[in-house]
Amino acid sequence: MPAVHKGRILGHEAVGTVEEAGDGVRRLCPGDRVLVSCISGCGSCHYCREARYGQCLEGGGWVLGHKVDGTQAEYVRVLYADTSTFRIPDGVSDEEALMLADILPTGYEVGVLAGGVRPGDVVAVVGCGPVGLSAITGARLYSPSQIVAVDLSDARLEAAKQFGADVTVNNSREDPLSVIKDLTGRLGADVAIEAVGVPASFELAVKMARPGGRIANIGLHGEAATLHLEEQWIRDITITTGLVDTSSVPTLMRLITTGQINARQFITHHIGLDDFEEAYDVFARAADTAALKVVLSR
Ligand SMILES: NC(=O)c1ccc[n+]([C@@H]2O[C@H](COP(=O)([O-])OP(=O)(O)OC[C@H]3O[C@@H](n4cnc5c(N)ncnc54)[C@H](O)[C@@H]3O)[C@@H](O)[C@H]2O)c1
Ligand SMILES: [Zn+2]
Repeated sequence: MPAVHKGRILGHEAVGTVEEAGDGVRRLCPGDRVLVSCISGCGSCHYCREARYGQCLEGGGWVLGHKVDGTQAEYVRVLYADTSTFRIPDGVSDEEALMLADILPTGYEVGVLAGGVRPGDVVAVVGCGPVGLSAITGARLYSPSQIVAVDLSDARLEAAKQFGADVTVNNSREDPLSVIKDLTGRLGADVAIEAVGVPASFELAVKMARPGGRIANIGLHGEAATLHLEEQWIRDITITTGLVDTSSVPTLMRLITTGQINARQFITHHIGLDDFEEAYDVFARAADTAALKVVLSR
């Protein structure tokens, strides 16, 4: 992320204990066990009042590990703490709650809700990293008829099956377009969710959607991706983009509490805070290490 300055403490996913609360904090006390959301929100600006915390006008949004020091540290200062954290209910472990800091609400809000997944839909998910797997997890809540997972890595496709994909396609070997056409009587996917963030995956997601279908882009794009309007203008498609708001955390927390979402299955590695280098190495070589989420703890 070129926007992040050198020296910034990274990290925007954390669970911790409140040590101290500033004067403006009303609802949290020292000792509370909280989830620190990847999105901070002032709670009162125009967008926060629409629960669109990602777009906060008062210095919130995605700021942790970006514009202010982040969570890969022993202590973290969380701004607007009342509206940027969630108290963790008894019965939900720290590690389960941690998956709600970013990936689960991202897949659910920016993928499943923005894409309008409905019962019976054929859902294509391009990219099966933690975010794509979260989109699969969220889509399952709506009883789709088929979930088709696409990735270049067999390890990630194996994970996609564990998370509930019905069909997996390795697009380094197979053509996902012919797979989806065969599955749907040549129609295409009702909803195509893009969870990679490169031009090829966006263009693929657009092509996988049927006429009248919806394409939900989750990926964070660092370079221009082409929307081929010369082909797409005629196909009645809807494309959505978005930054997660984490407004769905209470809902998803409830589904973890009742066992309808298994947050534990995202966690493949546990590493101590003193072994950061190892953690980065494991994460960087995800294709070999089969890493999904690496939990760092004290
Ligand atoms: N919109 C938001 O609010 C938001 C929030 C969090 C993350 N994100 C973004 O979501 C994206 C996914 O995050 P992640 O943590 O799962 O990343 P990840 O890198 O772990 O996963 C990406 C997956 O895409 C696969 N891939 C790469 N190129 C591909 C291609 N051409 N076709 C099919 N698969 C391909 C990779 O093998 C990998 O499994 C990233 O761009 C991330 O920045 C967006
Ligand atoms: Zn705000």
